[in-house]
Amino acid sequence: MKGDHLLVAFAFWVLASSFASAYDPSPLQDFCVAINDTKSAVFVNGKFCKNPKLAIANDFSFSGLNIPRNTGNQVGSNVTLLNVDQIPGLNTLGLSLARIDYAANGGLNPPHIHPRASEILLVLEGTLYVGFVTSNPDNRFVTKVLYPGDVFVFPLGLIHFQFNVAKTNAVAIAALGSQNPGVITVANAVFGSNPPINPDVLAKAFQLGKNIVNDLQKKFGGNNK
Ligand SMILES: *[C@@H]1O[C@H](CO)[C@@H](O)[C@H](O)[C@H]1NC(C)=O
Ligand SMILES: *[C@@H]1O[C@H](CO)[C@@H](O)[C@H](O)[C@H]1NC(C)=O
Repeated sequence: MKGDHLLVAFAFWVLASSFASAYDPSPLQDFCVAINDTKSAVFVNGKFCKNPKLAIANDFSFSGLNIPRNTGNQVGSNVTLLNVDQIPGLNTLGLSLARIDYAANGGLNPPHIHPRASEILLVLEGTLYVGFVTSNPDNRFVTKVLYPGDVFVFPLGLIHFQFNVAKTNAVAIAALGSQNPGVITVANAVFGSNPPINPDVLAKAFQLGKNIVNDLQKKFGGNNK
């Protein structure tokens, strides 16, 4: 009898804890301000759903990820992200996929954060010096040099990067745990915000002269966005 009670109690506990995690799904966008009038609503948390009976294979498909991307830009990398906007069937599934191309000799996917996703990256070509930094107070730098066939994980919300140290192009494929992982490129967000952050704030925060901050703000286009 006592065992039965325990079993029932356990069953309730399992139910209760699964309810607890079933409510309040994680944010699928930066924010979702509530409104009462659904007629003027733009988004739910994520996207509205198509009638499942009308779903077709192309809602779950994308072609052309085999094609190398152009890396002739400032940082020498190009991220092709397939999120819910490219593959509508990803809505609510907590997944996305990216191809990342890196130029030879220093193509960089610069330090950035995905506010809503962890990432697992597979190197196909090239040699990538990668790493992430843990949160305060340790700020430990976890790093490795990756070769084709190597896989590396970047945990949710941590600053990370990949840098191609090979003399040839590099290519990696990354899977992310959100239909809309989001990207915050640290330098662009801080020095290229729109409108610009008051340079006094950045000078103090980064312990830099104000002229350097002004240069950085010009470089990252805080004024011309
Ligand atoms: C939405 O409706 C509730 C209940 O009627 C009301 O208290 C609230 O102020 C409304 N919110 C907005 C943003 O209109
Ligand atoms: C990435 O590559 C595509 C196709 O090669 C190109 O159209 C796009 O401008 C590139 N993006 C960047 C940021 O260089």
